[in-house]
Amino acid sequence: MAILEQQTSQQLIELENKYGAHNYHPLPVVLSKGEGVYVWDVDGKQYYDFLSAYSAVNQGHCHPKIVNAMVQQAQTLTLTSRAFYNDMLGKYEKFACEFFGFDKLLPMNTGAEAVETALKLCRKWAYEVKGIDENKAEIIVCKNNFHGRTTTIISFSNDPVARKNFGPFTNGFIKIEYDNLKALESALQNNPNVGGFLVEPIQGEAGVYVPSEGYLTKAKALCEQYNVLFIADEVQTGIARTGKLLAVNHENVTPDILILGKAISGGVYPVSAVLANDAIMNVIKPGNHGSTFGGNPVAAAVAMTALEVVRDEKLAENAEVLGNVFRSELNKYIENSNIVTLVRGKGLLNAILINEEEDSDTAWNICLALRDNGLLAKPTHGNIIRFAPPLVMNEEQLLDCVGIIIKTLKEFEE
Ligand SMILES: Cc1ncc(COP(=O)(O)O)c(C=O)c1O
Repeated sequence: MAILEQQTSQQLIELENKYGAHNYHPLPVVLSKGEGVYVWDVDGKQYYDFLSAYSAVNQGHCHPKIVNAMVQQAQTLTLTSRAFYNDMLGKYEKFACEFFGFDKLLPMNTGAEAVETALKLCRKWAYEVKGIDENKAEIIVCKNNFHGRTTTIISFSNDPVARKNFGPFTNGFIKIEYDNLKALESALQNNPNVGGFLVEPIQGEAGVYVPSEGYLTKAKALCEQYNVLFIADEVQTGIARTGKLLAVNHENVTPDILILGKAISGGVYPVSAVLANDAIMNVIKPGNHGSTFGGNPVAAAVAMTALEVVRDEKLAENAEVLGNVFRSELNKYIENSNIVTLVRGKGLLNAILINEEEDSDTAWNICLALRDNGLLAKPTHGNIIRFAPPLVMNEEQLLDCVGIIIKTLKEFEE
């Protein structure tokens, strides 16, 4: 069959360009294989993956235990819909609830769907438990957020590219500065209609913005004071990425609603989830919300195994240790660099700031050179490069990667 014939990178890129919608701008490299911290292109060239599918592949590419769980379940029972019970969902829900310390889980598939679910759950709680008048509930969100691509979610984005010509938008959101407790308090004061505060513990897509220490603790305390739900979007920061199981664990904060996606599946299958305690989750009744694929047996098997791998392979601990090595090595380099001004992040979610305007193409060119030198990363916003390798990396590999990054940056120094 013609479609199975060996094709060159250029041919494959042209295929996507011709037949696929142009909703992404990929780095020109065509991958055909992955294992652990490595991926290979169609010509067999090996790369370190320093994006991990936006932190979905924390457990490493094609983790054998996770793939095996998927294959076994796929050969047994794949989908029942929630019209019937299946013998995997309850086991997974119990496992995940105990793993994260919540009473209940609502299963979905993608990160954006889980965010939508959390917003609906928060609104319903606001009306039925807090007692806000119908259609008056508001949710506080942060500027420069990234929570996904649905119409409601982009309604409270301030990225013009994500929003332009997609209106009309959904009402009921109040946008405040991130990492600004005064802004949060003034949004909460004298406004009995606020039901929740939705926040990323670290703003990933915005460029790995780590808030000031104590921000999350104090924000949670303010939410408690005003009887408002603290909703943590840990789709990118969760599941060991930042050196703890959840990024909120750095400040011992327990969210009222926890949103998970990406790495809860080890990157092999779309799985997302919303967790909350009974007092909140019990507002959801049959027919209020759902998804044909949400909670299917394959997703349940995959997610349980993906979480087991995180625990058994101590991935949070590894991310913490290697993250410190990464930042300290890059900081040494940055002291004498003209091209990089800053490295920031937590665990293995880091970014460097390139000393150029946002609209310059230097960061993109650095990523092309990194690719040529065997490491894949992508700019997030014009002048920031995110570095997020799989968490199964070892120290020797990380130092090898630091070497590649520094060697590449040197090519761009004035
Ligand atoms: C914090 C956060 N929330 C939600 C999403 C959306 O997830 P998905 O792309 O699976 O819809 C993302 C994706 O990058 C994210 O980083």
